[in-house]
Amino acid sequence: MTDVSETIKSRTSANHYDPARKLSDEALAQLIELATCAPSAFNAQNWKFVAVRSDEAQTRLLPLAYNQPKVLDAAVTFIVCGTLQPHLALPGALQPAVDVGILDEATFNGWVGAANGMYKDNATLQRDEAVRSAAMAAMTLMLAAQGKGMVSYPMIGFDAVGVADAFALQANEIPVMLLTVGYAAAANWPQKPRKDVAQVLSFA
Ligand SMILES: Cc1cc2nc3c(=O)[nH]c(=O)nc-3n(C[C@H](O)[C@H](O)[C@H](O)COP(=O)(O)O)c2cc1C
Repeated sequence: MTDVSETIKSRTSANHYDPARKLSDEALAQLIELATCAPSAFNAQNWKFVAVRSDEAQTRLLPLAYNQPKVLDAAVTFIVCGTLQPHLALPGALQPAVDVGILDEATFNGWVGAANGMYKDNATLQRDEAVRSAAMAAMTLMLAAQGKGMVSYPMIGFDAVGVADAFALQANEIPVMLLTVGYAAAANWPQKPRKDVAQVLSFA
């Protein structure tokens, strides 16, 4: 593992992958274990991941990702989903924190009640939360991959309805992002320059 600043600074969106270098299902699960350390509102963990890594599944995804070759060349393309109705699954998501003594019963009930009040009749907020949580997890996944010597590429260039259909996503699972992960081939761009901090930071 490298220093976190180095990991952040070395991450790029890598277009070119070594197609010969695959990842085991165990290695993919380790990446997702790290991704799920991302924060989410109420610790709802309202995300799901589909690891598209077999030849057949990659070929199925290719046209839905507008024929971007990295979908075939990368070891995996994760379909990073955010899930709607986070309040319904929240008790199950929080119970382990109660069981290990982090959350007391009053806090558990307070959070579940607050989440019900916020999300139950607010489809827009449910969708916002799904996108927020999936984006948090996707960023964590990219840094996890980078820290393990791999590269990644986030994509909005895909047919969301087609992907949901082709990979049998549930009605409450929103495909927020495709994310290729694998080992780099030559000719990837370096990280592009960023705006000066003074352009984006104000102090209050
Ligand atoms: C949510 C998201 C979606 C993106 N979708 C695409 C895409 O569909 N096609 C593409 O070529 N690049 C896509 N990119 C990559 C961006 O162009 C890239 O992150 C940006 O140019 C900065 O470069 P860097 O990631 O190498 O630092 C996406 C990036 C993000 C964060």
